[in-house]
Amino acid sequence: MTDGVPTDDFSAGPLTAGQVACLGAYITAIALWMCAEWLNYKRSHAKKAQTHAHTEAAAVPEGKPLLEMNGVGSAVDVEATSGEAAGAGMPSSPPPGTDASGKPTYAWASSAFYRCLMLDGDALLSSREALRSAVEFGTILAWFYVADRTQLIAPGTKTYTRDVLLFIFLVLTAVAGGYSLKQHRTLLLHRTQTEEWKGWMQVLFLLYHYYNAKEIYNAIRVFIAAYVWMTGFGNFSYYYRTADFGVGRFFQMMWRLNFLVLFCCLVLNNSYMLYYICPMHTLFTIMVYGALAVFPKYNKSDAAIWLKIGACFLTVFVFWDLKMVFYSVWTPFMFLVGYTDPRRPGGDKMYEWFFRSSLDRYIWIYGMICAFMHPKVEKFLQAVDGMEAHRRRATRAVLISLFCAVGYAWYHFVYLLPKVEYNRIHPYTSWIPITGEAGILVVDFFFMLRNLTPQMRSFSMGLYGWLGCVTLETYIGQFHTWLLSKRPDGQPIYLLTLLPGYPLLNFAVVTAIYVVLSHRLFQTTSNLKDAVVPHDDNRLLLRNGLMMAAVAGVAACFGFLMVEARKMLML
Ligand SMILES: *[C@@H]1O[C@H](CO)[C@@H](O)[C@H](O)[C@H]1NC(C)=O
Repeated sequence: MTDGVPTDDFSAGPLTAGQVACLGAYITAIALWMCAEWLNYKRSHAKKAQTHAHTEAAAVPEGKPLLEMNGVGSAVDVEATSGEAAGAGMPSSPPPGTDASGKPTYAWASSAFYRCLMLDGDALLSSREALRSAVEFGTILAWFYVADRTQLIAPGTKTYTRDVLLFIFLVLTAVAGGYSLKQHRTLLLHRTQTEEWKGWMQVLFLLYHYYNAKEIYNAIRVFIAAYVWMTGFGNFSYYYRTADFGVGRFFQMMWRLNFLVLFCCLVLNNSYMLYYICPMHTLFTIMVYGALAVFPKYNKSDAAIWLKIGACFLTVFVFWDLKMVFYSVWTPFMFLVGYTDPRRPGGDKMYEWFFRSSLDRYIWIYGMICAFMHPKVEKFLQAVDGMEAHRRRATRAVLISLFCAVGYAWYHFVYLLPKVEYNRIHPYTSWIPITGEAGILVVDFFFMLRNLTPQMRSFSMGLYGWLGCVTLETYIGQFHTWLLSKRPDGQPIYLLTLLPGYPLLNFAVVTAIYVVLSHRLFQTTSNLKDAVVPHDDNRLLLRNGLMMAAVAGVAACFGFLMVEARKMLML
């Protein structure tokens, strides 16, 4: 069941310049991190010896064992050291990033990165956490390479059993509902609710891939549309409320969306479009940002917002529905958005990008509309809630029947269509089930109003919320450590198999590894982002950007030269 895949057509090919560059960076990071750990060890050791001498000299209070005191003493010490390391550095030298008078400097030579390369002890100590994150991130990617590009791990094949898929999903939901329910103060469609929503959709989406469950294809399309809807909804709410259009925040988001995928592309020699969710969300996030950040002073006027939303519809119509325009705009960016499945070579390299982005081209605008209407809807629901019992029941009955009727009509006339016909009308109909899913949360909101006032509390499944936070990492990671593609640009049609012959046990083991790694990728990406992309110091942002570009340039030259040298030696 899990064996018997012919392995002769798997070939990673010789190392590319990008892979060599990443390897070089990884080795450098390991070396620097080890220096930092060693310095830290030496320093806390020296401190400990000092304290030790101190305690021995001082009288030990009666009734307290010496051991415990030492324990407390050293714990405090370690904290003090790391606090100092993270903070100001040694009193003799100015703190990192500032000159002698304490003003921030933007000189390259004063950056922590440069000083680490120069093996400056204070810089190494203060960058220890970031270095550790870089090494951890690199190690996970190295594992991706080993699992997905070498012969070490034999891939298994997929088999679909509806029973198994449903069993896993229902058991997980039972556990999530039984053991991870969280009570929290909530508003309609609050972040906890959307994260939980993302979480259970992601689980079904991943199981669909794992078991190749073709029969739920149409439902999966709706889930993907729901993520894009949330991109519109969440980002519109955020920018509308905070008017935080700073470049710092913008680049932080770009980092979050693209850092991991960039390194996956380099290390595994893949196209950006293999992970089509990333370019799609990046583009639509930029479009939501653009809609609100252009002429921001008009955002206060409702009419202007409607005008902007209208402009978004028009833009999408021109740039997607007129296929010629789409192709001429994107052809120069073929290196970024082109894709060919190695199993089906030839054909239109732009097709994947056009197809994927077209499916959900309008739904983010609907997300913006929902976010904009949100306070009004909430008020309306509260008004319904305040009606006298008779009218309230009637109004709700009408609303719920309407929902059910439309939902059923959609199911009957749209959902049941075969894949190709379904895809044709998906862009114009996906808002219906999404409104329905949001409607379930509306019911939750009613429930909260009815039963739990005045605390205004509601429940959500923490487990799904926890999974919902890392949808991006589980989406990207699945290609290389849960499923396997086994060749550059390949679709993940195999399974990572560590226990051949035991499909269910194997599923449990590889899933545990996969989910833990996804969380670590999320955490390390975020740590590195905090170390590199400042939220509100644009000059520092520019400096760091230029430095990263320089480092990338040097690394690329190194990789290129190594590859050329290898070729010459082979001749
Ligand atoms: C904006 O959209 C991106 C992509 O879906 C998402 O990761 C991010 O959390 C959104 N931002 C907000 C504030 O909701």
